[in-house]
Amino acid sequence: MKNAKNIKACITAIGGYVPEDILTNEMLEKMVDTNDEWIVSRTGIKERRILKDPKKPTSYMGIKASNKVIEERNIDPMSIDLVITATVTPDLPVASTAAYIATEIGAKNAFSFDIQAACSGFLYGMSVAKSFIESGRYQRVLLVGADKMSSIVDYTDRATCILFGDGAGAALFEASENEFGYEDEFLQTDGNGRNYLKIDAGGSLFPPSHETLDKKMHNLYQEGQVVFKYAVSNMLEATQKIMERNNLKGNDINYLVPHQANKRIIDSIASKTDIDSDKILMNIERYGNTTAATIPLLLNDNKASFKKGEKFIFIAFGGGFSWGASYLTWSI
Ligand code: UT7
Repeated sequence: MKNAKNIKACITAIGGYVPEDILTNEMLEKMVDTNDEWIVSRTGIKERRILKDPKKPTSYMGIKASNKVIEERNIDPMSIDLVITATVTPDLPVASTAAYIATEIGAKNAFSFDIQAACSGFLYGMSVAKSFIESGRYQRVLLVGADKMSSIVDYTDRATCILFGDGAGAALFEASENEFGYEDEFLQTDGNGRNYLKIDAGGSLFPPSHETLDKKMHNLYQEGQVVFKYAVSNMLEATQKIMERNNLKGNDINYLVPHQANKRIIDSIASKTDIDSDKILMNIERYGNTTAATIPLLLNDNKASFKKGEKFIFIAFGGGFSWGASYLTWSI
């Protein structure tokens, strides 16, 4: 076992997967009372991917993304110590999706568990992965962010159905062999937020019943304006805290990696922290909000450009409420 004091966690490989089927704004115009102009101007979204096959759950996408990580890093999956899956759409309410993914990718020596922190799931998962690596006890942690949002979205509710898409991303965390890696984090929650962004039924408060089905209580509910307000102010505060205590100005940052909920939220935070628009990773126009998958999909889409030592700020906000920011220097 290595000396825990000298260990820094870093990302050594990234994979991503989105389904082939595309749901465009024009297609949504035929399903609900909406239009392309409204969706683009209010959210930045043009289209999203949908995993249409009802027999294919979230793990299907998580497995695809994870296998790409294994291939990219060229490792034996038996060498993975831990598999974490961040998701709000587990395959089953009980029996973790992470356990199934671990077994299917051949990570049979690993233990595994899911974390549920909604749109902050991958951000929180990075903190968990980092802590297991930095304990010195584990060498390889695979973090998967995967959500089949189409399984919980009500496609008659125009307030939510235009926002979400399906996808998965995965990142391998290992001990850094140089001075770079996971540097700092500021993570927060506020349980009062569950009034504004939630699925009511299916848990212990409202177990499934004919009534919960009839009232569509198993679908995602969001009060968009309230969530918008908290998302901007809380993510801004988290970003500023991380920048201040690491002595970072907007110019010092190479990449802002924000959860993809709304382009207007991201632009607002970037402008208040003096981070230039060309440093902001964005794919909301193609994928919409894929919940736990937005951040690893951004990394996967842009990984060819990353260079050792570059500075990354990750930010997210989501159900719970949960939110935060983290700071990482690229290590490979
Ligand atoms: O990822 C988890 C965290 N989630 C977020 O961060 C999401 C935060 N919220 C948002 O991104 C935005 O609030 C939305 C994109 C969800 C909504 O945008 P908005 O600018 O806050 O719109 P709004 O809810 O204030 O609605 C404005 C108008 C309303 O009509 P009236 O009352 O002004 O006549 C809505 O009924 O737009 C109407 N509207 C729509 N019109 C066309 C709502 N949804 C639609 C729609 N198409 N799909």
